[in-house]
Amino acid sequence: MANRNTQPCGFVSRKFFSCSLILAIVLVLYCILFWGSTAPLAPINSSLLPNEKAFSLIENQRIPLRDEMGDHLLLNHEISSLNRNQPEEQELKKCDPSKALFKVFMYDMPPEFHFGLLGWVADGKSVWPDIHTKIPPYPGGLNLQHSIEYWLTLDLLSSRLPDRRGPCTAVRVEDSREADVVFVPFFSSLSYNRYSKIEPPEKISRNKMLQQKLVSYLAAQEEWKRSNGMDHIIMAHHPNSMLFARTSLWHCMFILADFGRYIPYVANVEKDVIAPYKHVIKTFVNDTSTYDDRPTLLYFQGAIYRKDGGKIRQELFYLLRNEKDVHFAFGSVRVNGINKASQGMHSSKFCLNIAGDTPSSNRLFDAIASHCVPVIISDEIELPFEDVLDYSEFCVFVSASDAVKKGFLMKLIRGISREEWTRMWRKLKEVEDYFEFQYPSRKDDAVQMIWQAVARKVPAIRLKVHKSRRFSRFKSGR
Ligand SMILES: *[C@@H]1O[C@H](CO)[C@@H](O)[C@H](O)[C@H]1NC(C)=O
Ligand SMILES: *[C@@H]1O[C@H](CO)[C@@H](O)[C@H](O)[C@H]1NC(C)=O
Repeated sequence: MANRNTQPCGFVSRKFFSCSLILAIVLVLYCILFWGSTAPLAPINSSLLPNEKAFSLIENQRIPLRDEMGDHLLLNHEISSLNRNQPEEQELKKCDPSKALFKVFMYDMPPEFHFGLLGWVADGKSVWPDIHTKIPPYPGGLNLQHSIEYWLTLDLLSSRLPDRRGPCTAVRVEDSREADVVFVPFFSSLSYNRYSKIEPPEKISRNKMLQQKLVSYLAAQEEWKRSNGMDHIIMAHHPNSMLFARTSLWHCMFILADFGRYIPYVANVEKDVIAPYKHVIKTFVNDTSTYDDRPTLLYFQGAIYRKDGGKIRQELFYLLRNEKDVHFAFGSVRVNGINKASQGMHSSKFCLNIAGDTPSSNRLFDAIASHCVPVIISDEIELPFEDVLDYSEFCVFVSASDAVKKGFLMKLIRGISREEWTRMWRKLKEVEDYFEFQYPSRKDDAVQMIWQAVARKVPAIRLKVHKSRRFSRFKSGR
């Protein structure tokens, strides 16, 4: 080794080159490990270090760990159920704000941006409803798919209630200077779903008006000016939400369904968080079905699209329509169709998730709630929490180009053994809670998983904000 390293630089043999490449990789790996293990010990005032707690994610075994058997992954709730002598005790314990992973400052924005969109009228005392007495309901049906804005806001609102139960990954603080991130409570998906039509005599829709107002509101805030919005969280789960404001606010962290309708600098996997859809299919409670109990081999029900990525739905329809044991039907799952679709998915072994007019859809989360092994044909899909979840353990991925080859898909699906299917089915039952939205939120449900995903980005946000300040403190002139 030493000899090779002391060779003169001009003398680059192939061997030397690959050797130094390996050395470099080892060095980088070593640095990463070394840095990871020492960062929390760095002599920095710990109140400056949200990352210390983010690192403890790993110590707390939030990241799935391999068990002794080798091929079975232990997930959080399994680990906690292993340790849990008094079931639910952990769950019901009061939230301890000092144990939260990070602190959030939430703007007290006028109700027209949030609960006002649900028809709630403020009583003049607060811009927020008194969630102790009555929580304004979110509209049902397909609106619910994008309701993350509602669940996250409720979780923050309740995080300081004296009798708050359950976990608090994120805790609200009154002083923005204490906060790690700033939360913008705009219900942008609901605004898009409900108020996109122009109502004369208005010249623009309420949805567009609210977005314009939001941009001016934020630009006027001290918190926004301090970081240029880099530490702000804006929810835009519906792919068409925030259409008018997104390019003005692109420094922020978005919470999104996918990046399909975004240009890369506005939204990307480095700075943003992908959140699940709320499933509309009923959860399969007490599912004891076996491979043979589910008569349909492959299930798809969805809208038909003729443009962009959606063309593949049509091609697959022609390929699969005459296959035995396959249910392939067009027509979106409307509210009255939900029962039928629940039944269909609960009695199918595999459920197709094909790119529509956007790479993501709620169908994946419907399949997970049904324990119907998802078959994902969507090359551009982004999956929630993929840094801690290995989807290949409970989903089958097929590239679009393979899927449209004659016979390819059915050969693949029929080739998956009963044992393999059962393994994936069992895994689905283990992970399903990660995709469950509810209030009050429970340990490691979708709300807490989203907050944990945000927490993992806090150190990177901090780095960006600090960097941006290098030259700003002592500006010459003015
Ligand atoms: C960290 O800073 C805070 C506020 O500046 C202070 O109250 C606290 O005592 C400091 N902690 C340590 C360990 O120095
Ligand atoms: C599921 O099983 C539990 C415990 O056996 C039972 O209490 C509950 O009622 C069942 N739920 C449904 C929907 O069947």
